[in-house]
Amino acid sequence: MRTIQTVKEMKAWSAQARRPLGLVPTMGCLHEGHMSLVRKCRSACRSSAVSVFVNPAQFGPSEDLNGYPRTLESDRKKLEDAGVDVLFLPGPGEIYPPGYKTYVNVEDITSRLCGKSRPQFFRGVATVVLKLFNIARPDLAFFGEKDWQQLETLRTMARDLDLDVTIESLPIVREADGLAMSSRNVYLSPEQRESALSLSRSLSAAREMFRQGERSAEKIRARIREIVEKQSARIDYVSVCDPRTFVEQEKIGEKALVALAVWVGTTRLIDNCLIERT
Ligand code: PAJ
Repeated sequence: MRTIQTVKEMKAWSAQARRPLGLVPTMGCLHEGHMSLVRKCRSACRSSAVSVFVNPAQFGPSEDLNGYPRTLESDRKKLEDAGVDVLFLPGPGEIYPPGYKTYVNVEDITSRLCGKSRPQFFRGVATVVLKLFNIARPDLAFFGEKDWQQLETLRTMARDLDLDVTIESLPIVREADGLAMSSRNVYLSPEQRESALSLSRSLSAAREMFRQGERSAEKIRARIREIVEKQSARIDYVSVCDPRTFVEQEKIGEKALVALAVWVGTTRLIDNCLIERT
C-alpha cells in the first residue's frame, strides 16, 4: 500500500490508476464500520483509495477537533491487510492552504436534525468531500448509513453539481450488543457505554411499535425520549421524519427515518433506522 500526502501526487496516481477507482473518505480511528466500506470498495473496484483526514471545517469551535482520536499506525495496518492500494493522508495545510475561501452549501436538508446543533457541520463535510472527489477522481465513493443525513447531503451535492461519481451506501455496523460502531465510542467510560445502549434499544422499540401498527410519529418520539432519558443521557434531537427531506412526520405513511442524537457525558452519539411497511 502506498501512502500519499500531497494533492499533486494523488492526482497523478488517479490519472493512471485502473478503473473503476473507488474512494472511501474517513477521519481515521478505523473500526468495522469503516472496514465494511473498504471491503465493498475493494470488491467493486479495480483500484482503491482510503482517505484519512480529520477535517477541521466540519468541527465547531467548541467541538472535539483536537481531541478527535488518532490511531494512524493501526489504521495503516488495517488498510494494508485489507489490500487497499493507496492511503491518502493529507495534512490540513494541503487541503486548506493559506487564503482558502471556498465552501459548498447544500441548502434546506442540512438545516434539520444534526444541522440544528452543528450549523457548520454539513458545509464542512460537503466541502471536503467535493475536494476529495476532485483530487482522487473516483468512479465510486462509499459511505455508511450510520450518517444518513450526511449521505443524503452528499447524494444531493453529487446530483446538483453533476459530479461523475456514483455514491454507494452500506448499512450500519453494530457491536454485538447493538451499539452502532463509532470512532467516538472510545471516549465512553464503562458506565457511559451502558447508557449509550439506550440509542439502539430505543430504535428497536420504535421499530417494534411500528410493526405492531403504531402510526403516530409523536407517540414513537415520546417512547424513544422515555427510554433514553431513563439512562440519564441528554437528548439533542429525536426525529421521525421523511428519509429524503427530513421533514418531521405526524402520521407515518409507507416509511420513515427514525433518527436521534444524544449526549452521553461529553460525547455526542447518533443512530438511526428506517421503518417501513413490509
Ligand atoms: P467518519 O466518521 O470517519 O466515517 C467515515 C465513513 O464511515 C462514513 O461514510 C460513515 O458513515 C461510515 N461509518 C461510520 N461508522 C459506521 C458504522 N457503524 N457502520 C457503517 N458505516 C459507518 O463521516 C466522516 O468520517 C466524515 O464526515 C467524512 C465523510 C470523512 C468527511 O470528513
